[in-house]
Amino acid sequence: MGDALAPDAHPDEVSFEESLRPRRLAEFVGQPRLTSNLEVFVNAALDRSEALDHVLLVGPPGLGKTTLAQIVATEMQAHIHTTSGPVLERAGDLAALLTNVEAGDVMFIDEIHRLGPSVEEILYPAMEDFELDLIIGQGPAARSVRLSLPRFTLIAATTRMGLLAPPLRDRFGIVHRLSFYRPEDLTTIVKRSARILSIELDDDAAEEIARRSRGTPRIANRLLRRVRDFAHHLRTETVTLEATTWGLAQMEVDAYGLDHLDRRLLAAIIEIYEGGPVGLKALAASLGEDRGTLEDIHEPYLLQIGFLQRTPRGRLATSRAYRHLGLDHGGPEQSLFEDQS
Ligand SMILES: Nc1ncnc2c1ncn2[C@@H]1O[C@H](COP(=O)(O)OP(=O)(O)OP(=O)(O)O)[C@@H](O)[C@H]1O
Ligand SMILES: [Mg+2]
Repeated sequence: MGDALAPDAHPDEVSFEESLRPRRLAEFVGQPRLTSNLEVFVNAALDRSEALDHVLLVGPPGLGKTTLAQIVATEMQAHIHTTSGPVLERAGDLAALLTNVEAGDVMFIDEIHRLGPSVEEILYPAMEDFELDLIIGQGPAARSVRLSLPRFTLIAATTRMGLLAPPLRDRFGIVHRLSFYRPEDLTTIVKRSARILSIELDDDAAEEIARRSRGTPRIANRLLRRVRDFAHHLRTETVTLEATTWGLAQMEVDAYGLDHLDRRLLAAIIEIYEGGPVGLKALAASLGEDRGTLEDIHEPYLLQIGFLQRTPRGRLATSRAYRHLGLDHGGPEQSLFEDQS
């Protein structure tokens, strides 16, 4: 069974996700501050008949960055050109795309933290001055030509803000972080998806799926789809709470939606470092994982649900984390960490 809680999209989920994507800002559930700000900026740009400022969307996988980029283009009534950091290997790849951009268009670059330095170099003047510096020819005969570009909007997405060069970051007029969704927002999302997919879903079943989705709409939609199969297997027309809890247990979905690496991270703090505090660097080395992945993707969720604490001396596992992993806290310090959330 594939990892139901992996935050990244599975390769076979592309068209499924596409069918569930909200198309307009008003349909986008949750992230109220972000959506209301975007609405203000979009309306102001529309009223002035100007291109929107460049937008950077930051946040863990599956929270709606691609969805929002498409929504903003729709709201701006703009044509969207989509590409990604790893696809743009050479400066010429980006130059070719930019020369096709028309006034007011949106250029969406996903995974912008994976752009190479030579590509970044031509992106800077394109973003700032709407100019494209091209080198024509090779060797001593090479000369550079400057083209002016129409005013366009760059929307970029990244899961890893820390990997962005500061000069790149500074060239975005609008920077927004997406946060993990509250269970009530995920409930709304799951119900909306059920309607689109013509799934009969009980309210308490929707809430259970929402609670176990790691604050992530992608995971909520995936669990809904899988749970429907379990309900079918039980021969119930409706996805009930009973079918849901049974299906989630069959898939070994964690009660808090922790994924494999979340659990390994907590277990390492508890078992290797006696509950902490431990520095992120040491922790990453023990797990054989990239420090930035832990910091940008795993830690925020564990902090949010009160399983992890950040102190000046490092990370601590809370007694909730011990309890959840079925481990004894032991030691007199237990009361220190009780009910921190
Ligand atoms: N606010 C939302 N309301 C309803 N559905 C949402 C919302 N945000 C995301 N989704 C759904 O979750 C799925 C994943 O969203 P999306 O692809 O935009 O995430 P992402 O942040 O771009 O992820 P990645 O970092 O992997 O590219 C989509 O199918 C989308 O329909
Ligand atoms: Mg995306």
